[in-house]
Amino acid sequence: MNIYDIDFGQLYREHMATAGRPKPAQAWDTRADEMNRTMGESGYVDAFIARMDFTACSSLLDVGCGTGAIALAAAPRLDQVIGLDYSPRMLELLAENARARGLDNVRPVRRAWEDDWSDIPACDIVVASRSTSVMDMADALARLDAKAKQRVYLTSLAGGRFVDPSLYAAIGRTPPPPLPDYIYILNILHGMGIHARLDYIENDNRLRGAEDFDAFAGKAASVLGELTPGERDGLKAWYGANPERAREGGAPFRWAFVSWNKTHPGRN
Ligand SMILES: C[S@@+](CC[C@H](N)C(=O)[O-])C[C@H]1O[C@@H](n2cnc3c(N)ncnc32)[C@H](O)[C@@H]1O
Repeated sequence: MNIYDIDFGQLYREHMATAGRPKPAQAWDTRADEMNRTMGESGYVDAFIARMDFTACSSLLDVGCGTGAIALAAAPRLDQVIGLDYSPRMLELLAENARARGLDNVRPVRRAWEDDWSDIPACDIVVASRSTSVMDMADALARLDAKAKQRVYLTSLAGGRFVDPSLYAAIGRTPPPPLPDYIYILNILHGMGIHARLDYIENDNRLRGAEDFDAFAGKAASVLGELTPGERDGLKAWYGANPERAREGGAPFRWAFVSWNKTHPGRN
């Protein structure tokens, strides 16, 4: 057996099935307003846009666009932007944000990864930012590639975890299984004959920046769920053991930034 015998699409589907099913649209609806408030806070959007090449491009399709972090930042450089998402609230906020910025070239389209995309026009650039949590990655990547005339850019979690596993150990919980990460994507693309480029975007830990333990425990509960008094004690010991780590909220996480060209030989 060698690596060419491995069906990475199948392996991904099996891993995703054990890591829990992707969320329904309603779950994203309830997060939309909060996500919208924090959309521009980290350096993520700037880091994403800085890695894109807009040369000779006039249209962009943003899949899983959310409230428009990438679509809106890219729109001033383009004639037409399509923001595709299955969450109605995300799309409402995308439209509001576009209006507030005086952008009239952004079109929200309510659609899931899994729906029929036959009426979605091919665009010069196709983007999927932090939005590839799908059951069938091989299908998702084939769709992105099919809709791109020039270039594709996506980000996927590196390492499969948002929360430092040492935090789970500190409170005596078993960490959830890691989500399938970008390494499946590179291998599935390789199987499609696409030799993608790889870069990383560092992201602050979600628990970073609490000014004291109470604030930290509040942030931790919003991510880990309600803490019992015993779990809170464990968290306090973790917090006190390494103040620098505590300030950072634990290990940072990284987004893998994966991109490929449609037009160059070798497509990398
Ligand atoms: C973490 S947010 C990312 C939003 C935006 N791309 C960004 O980088 O800020 C993930 C987005 O993907 C959308 N999404 C998740 N699963 C989807 C699916 N199956 N079909 C369409 N959109 C989906 C969610 O509604 C949400 O807006």
